Amino acid sequence: MSKFSTLLALLSVLPALSHAQSAVYAQCGGIGWTGDTTCVSGSVCTVLNDYYSQCLPSSATTGSTSTVASTSTVTPTSTTSVSTTTGSSTGTATSTSATSTSTAAAGNPFAGYEMYPSPLYSSEVAAAAAAMTDADLAAKAASVAQIPTFTWLDTVAKVPSLGDLLANATALQASSGQKQIVPIVVYDLPDRDCAAKASNGEFSIADGGEQDYYGYIDQIVAQIEKHPDVRVVAVIEPDSLANLVTNLSVEKCANAETTYKACVTYALNQLATVGVYMYMDAGHAGWLGWPANIQPAATLFAEMYQSANSSPFVRGLATNVANYNALQASSPDPITQGDPNYDELLYIEALGPMLSSAGFPAQFIVDQGRAGQQNLRQAWGDWCNIKGAGFGMRPTTDTPSSLIDAIVWVKPGGESDGTSNSSSPRFDSTCSLSDATQPAPEAGTWFQAYFETLVSQANPSL
Ligand SMILES: *[C@@H]1O[C@H](CO)[C@@H](O)[C@H](O)[C@H]1NC(C)=O
Ligand SMILES: *[C@@H]1O[C@H](CO)[C@@H](O)[C@H](O)[C@H]1NC(C)=O
Ligand SMILES: *[C@@H]1O[C@H](CO)[C@@H](O)[C@H](O)[C@H]1NC(C)=O
Repeated sequence: MSKFSTLLALLSVLPALSHAQSAVYAQCGGIGWTGDTTCVSGSVCTVLNDYYSQCLPSSATTGSTSTVASTSTVTPTSTTSVSTTTGSSTGTATSTSATSTSTAAAGNPFAGYEMYPSPLYSSEVAAAAAAMTDADLAAKAASVAQIPTFTWLDTVAKVPSLGDLLANATALQASSGQKQIVPIVVYDLPDRDCAAKASNGEFSIADGGEQDYYGYIDQIVAQIEKHPDVRVVAVIEPDSLANLVTNLSVEKCANAETTYKACVTYALNQLATVGVYMYMDAGHAGWLGWPANIQPAATLFAEMYQSANSSPFVRGLATNVANYNALQASSPDPITQGDPNYDELLYIEALGPMLSSAGFPAQFIVDQGRAGQQNLRQAWGDWCNIKGAGFGMRPTTDTPSSLIDAIVWVKPGGESDGTSNSSSPRFDSTCSLSDATQPAPEAGTWFQAYFETLVSQANPSL
């Protein structure tokens, strides 16, 4: 069948598909889209790019928008995207016209910049160090406060603190003359962590979570827009797209697929308008690095990149976030047997060319925050508060591959991966395996005993 007759066949079924109208902010078109193409009253189906059209409130669309460059037309007004979870939604997402930040710099966004160490994590670390009785260990622990670590915006309630963080970094940049990067993690998808339980989030797809998420992104954009002098680098949604590669047999992931893609597309497009350099989370060598997973992963990430109109702000992928894999293992850990990509460098060097072939010239950042010690796990899939882990290589742009922009610390070492309390609603049995440190508090909360281990086992030592 020719392309033309395929199109005719498609057109003939469209009326049947489109009688149920799409909600505000829902997808309504784009290459490969087979769902509703009309929008509920008060919203207009607006082309964001070839891959993604979205129902936007009529008041926010000032005409036809065929490219993301005309960003002022795709910024929703606040009323329909107010999050109900905080009661403090700013509702101030304003139109973002082209500014100097809308042109991406060529090359590595970390080059010539310093990463700003979050005062909040630094104060957690300082308090933890002060609570240690061993003076030598306490001094080593205190030094962690100087090492830049990403700030996780894992609830909408944390977004206002991003404004303070950006203001603080701006002040340091002005006083020191050293350009600053504020590293953040965007992590609040509805039905988050669909294949596990420990990090389930605040938004639910069944309960308006997609629109809550758009409100969350709008608030981040509004904060960044107010602080244009510092650069922001973001890891986008740990585990989410990787779950779509390997875990669609889990019902919650299958149900979330369309929403995850719509939400990540929205995040990529909106954050690009305020000049954020983004790395989508790509799991790790022991997840998407397996021969059966790596090509499907490349295909999905390239699709997401194209859904953001191949924006140069979508710089690439982040690997090993919150995980324990070495960048370069001196020898393969026995648990990696069968995967030729037994460390992060091998994974990245295998994935990079596949992405390029798919049209995504991706660069990488790699989390080494807790990767100082190797051969600790019973199984490669184990991820929860692994016993004996140590802080790893320090953040640097001096990396072993031209595909790697920077080694980073994304997971704040000392914050728990998940509770070991089997009565907790967020209990994941992974956190009670024999290689998991126990007892462990809820995900994201401070875990003093674990922090002490990371300090004492740090490699290179602190
Ligand atoms: C900003 O700096 C102030 C003063 O040092 C500090 O108290 C505050 O915690 C910082 N806020 C953030 C979010 O970094
Ligand atoms: C998700 O996929 C990974 C990788 O294939 C697998 O190890 C894991 O068991 C899956 N999780 C669930 C809950 O099925
Ligand atoms: C475990 O969780 C349950 C339910 O949240 C709580 O009532 C109990 O106090 C917790 N136990 C411990 C030891 O923290």
